[in-house]
This record gives sequence, structure tokens and C-alpha cells, in this order.
Amino acid sequence: MGQMVDLIIFGGTGDLSTRKLLPALFQLHRHGLADKLQRIVATGRGDTSSEAFRDKAHANLKKFLPADDWDEAIWQRFRDSLHYAQLDAGQPAHYQRLTTLLEEDPNSVKLYYLATLPSLYGIICQQLQEAGAAWADSRVVLEKPLGHDLASCQAINEQVAAVFSEECTFRIDHYLGKETVQNLLAVRFGNPLLHPVWKNSFVDNVQITVAEELGVEGRGNYYAKTGALRDMVQNHVLQVLSIVAMEPPSSLRPADIRDEKMKVLRCLEPITALNVKDSTVRGRYEAGAVDGEAVNGFLDEAEYKDALSTETFVAVRATINNWRWAGVPFYLRTGKRLGRRYSEIVIEFKRQPFSLFANDPNELTNKLVIRLQPEETISLHTLNKKPGLTNKLKLQPVELQLSADTLNQQDSYDAYERLLLDAINGDQTLFMRRDEVETAWRWIDSIIEAWETEGTPVKPYNAGTMGPSAATALVAVDGRSWYE
Ligand code: BG6
Repeated sequence: MGQMVDLIIFGGTGDLSTRKLLPALFQLHRHGLADKLQRIVATGRGDTSSEAFRDKAHANLKKFLPADDWDEAIWQRFRDSLHYAQLDAGQPAHYQRLTTLLEEDPNSVKLYYLATLPSLYGIICQQLQEAGAAWADSRVVLEKPLGHDLASCQAINEQVAAVFSEECTFRIDHYLGKETVQNLLAVRFGNPLLHPVWKNSFVDNVQITVAEELGVEGRGNYYAKTGALRDMVQNHVLQVLSIVAMEPPSSLRPADIRDEKMKVLRCLEPITALNVKDSTVRGRYEAGAVDGEAVNGFLDEAEYKDALSTETFVAVRATINNWRWAGVPFYLRTGKRLGRRYSEIVIEFKRQPFSLFANDPNELTNKLVIRLQPEETISLHTLNKKPGLTNKLKLQPVELQLSADTLNQQDSYDAYERLLLDAINGDQTLFMRRDEVETAWRWIDSIIEAWETEGTPVKPYNAGTMGPSAATALVAVDGRSWYE
């Protein structure tokens, strides 16, 4: 079975732990995948007992798990594995106590999950080391955001690296835990049919959309200082982009996959003051209606009224300077309070060199549309004869649709289940390597610097739409349009 693992969650009573981590750990038990998981120690500043923590966890799990997934017998086993340890990040004595608790089993691997403010990551690692709790085989999981820019990200990485080696450091991007994002690797490298056309001689443009209906949901203070580019593009969108654009790896080993993703990030052409105006659009939602419900604008909330320079929407035309992708624009967009929640990748192929049909030539493209969420579908847009008794042969798009959703229903799981399981098993494939995160920040920093130099405005859009009209124009000037 391999070595047993003790999981220690810093921020164990926080929002992420309550809503995501504990439910995911419960599900691992339910799916019979928690054999290696021995103890779960939640730490927090509050002075409470393990018994009281378990009662609270019971109530929260019932609230956050789908009702059908609740299982009293599983709960009894899960309950026994739960412990609570009071820990204030700056108190050496608390780490000593934790170490004593962890030393009860000297043979288990200690997996530290840091779900606190990232500004505490350095001190937590240092204190663990001083307390003698950073054993050679201990691992650390780091939640996002990893910094606010390249310099702060490097500082966190340095502090963590002083205690944990890169092989023991697991940086979370929960998008990589999504089944659909992993399926991208399978679709790309499992289908020989796609291999010859996955490049600039056949692909006209690539679009990646991560649209949300939700607003900032009580995270306004963080979000007001962050904005959509840092919150979503630096991590999730660039991770998806790197999988779409990477070369075939030499194997499925983590290092080989991460090397190829890294090369893509390195080839992203910097966006600077020279081209930022033509390559990016920033937006901020104003009052509108989402799903038939009236919602306020971002600045209407008292706490964000001064956040005039925070974008809740961003669209970018990215360029990858390598042989495979030179000349193919990658249009990226993400935003809050948009008309629909969906994440999608569209690979639009080039038109025929000459059209025989009575259509607008713009209509005549094949597209591969990969929907990541809410449902998982892959559809190939082909062109067929428009039925009817007309003289002119006209084409119409027809979708060949593959709905992986139906196939996967039985095995559906949350991204955090996948990622926790991999961290327990020590598999780093779906975690970001230090150079990936830092290279992504370098690219993002250059955009932010250019926005500051140029005073790039944040354009309003009505909640419930797909962003400011400038985002449509960003693509239209290239003679293209967003696939809706
Ligand atoms: C998080 C962002 O990383 O991802 C949030 O901080 C965003 O702002 C969330 O809402 C989106 O995740 P998902 O899985 O709902 O698409």
C-alpha cells in the first residue's frame, strides 16, 4: 500500500477547508481511495477540542456534500481520522505541540496543506523546520494566490524552498484537477487524427473563455486588489493555454509534461506599452441582470467603491512565438457577472482557400469546441448541405457532438479530490512547478506595467452580457469573432 500519510491543514477551519477540502477528503473515503490517509489534522487559531471540531465538521459536511453522497458509516470512519490542533502561525510553542502529535507515528509522511494567507507560507515553513517537523520526506501543498506579482511570488517560493525541496512542493491550480482539463491531454495526444492539424498551417485562431455568472462573493477585499488578470489569467487560463499549445511530451511523467508546458509559457510574446492598447481589454461590471435576477455593479458595493482600477473582465490577444503557433492569435477572456457560466476552448480551423458555395466565406470554418464546464462536451463543427430544393448548393454547420458528460457521470469528482489524492500519492503532474508560476507572472507583470504606463481604462459592461464591446472589437479588427 505504500507509506501512510498524515495530512495537516493550516487554515483548517477556514472557508476552503470547510467548503472544499474536507468534503473532498470525505469523498475519497467514500470512493475507497483513502487507504493511505491516516490522520487529518486541522489547525486553526481558535481554542477548541478535536471533539468539537468533529461536530462542526459533521454539520458542515452535511451542508456542503450532495445529499445523496452522505453515508453515516463512512462518516464514522472519517470522524475518527479527524483531529484539531490549535496553532497560531507565529507561536513556536504551538509548532512544538504539533510536532509531538505528529511524532506519534514516526513512519508516516507528513503532508502540510497551506490554506492560509500566502503571506504566512514562509513563516509556517520556517517554524515547521525549527520545530523539527519538516522531515526529508514531508511535503507541502500551496494554495493560490502565489503572490501578487513576480517579486512576491519569488519571495514566497524562496521561503518555501529554504525548507522543502521542489520535489516536495505541490502548487495548486484547481483547474488542473478538473477531469475535463486532464481530458485535454488525452484528446490532444490520444487522437492521431488531430495531430497533423494542430498547428498554424491549419488552425486560424484559438479562443479560451472562462465566463462566470457570480460576482466577487464576499472576497471583495482580495479581489479589489487583484482583478481578473491576476485572479484567473495568471493561473487557470494560462494553464489551459499551455496544455492546448504544448508539444507532445516524451512521456507522461510529471517532469516531461511540465517541461513542455513551460516551453509554451516561455514563448508567450510580452505585451508591453507598445501593444497593450491593441492587445488587451479591461472591463468592470455595472448593474444588470444575471439569470433573470437584478444585480448591482461592482462599484455599487460600498467596500469596492474606490476600486476604480480593478478589472472584473479581461480579454487578451496572446501570441505564442514558436514554429507551431507563429501567426495564430490566442484570444483569452474571463470575467465575472457575465451572461452565462461556462469555460470553453475553441480551435477554429482555416477556411477553404476558395469557396464553391453560396455562403459568406466567414461561415465556412471547421471548429473544434471543447467545453470544460458546466458540462463536458467536445463538438466538431462540420459543414453539410443545407437541405432544400434550391438551385444553389449552400452549406450549413452541423455539430458532431461527443458528450463525455454522460459517460463520466458515474465517476464524476471534484477537482480537489483529484489533487488531494495526487498529493497523498506524491504525484506532481497536476501541480505547477516553480518556473511555470514565475514565468506566468513575468508575462502578467508586463501587461500590468503597460496598463499603468498607458493608463489603460477599465470599460464598463452590463452584468449579464459578455463583457465590454471593446472585447468584440479586439477580435473583430482581425476579421474574426468570438464563438458564442
Ligand atoms: C478561483 C478564483 O481561483 O477560481 C475565483 O479566485 C473564481 O475568483 C474561481 O471564481 C473559479 O473556479 P471554478 O472552478 O468555479 O471555475
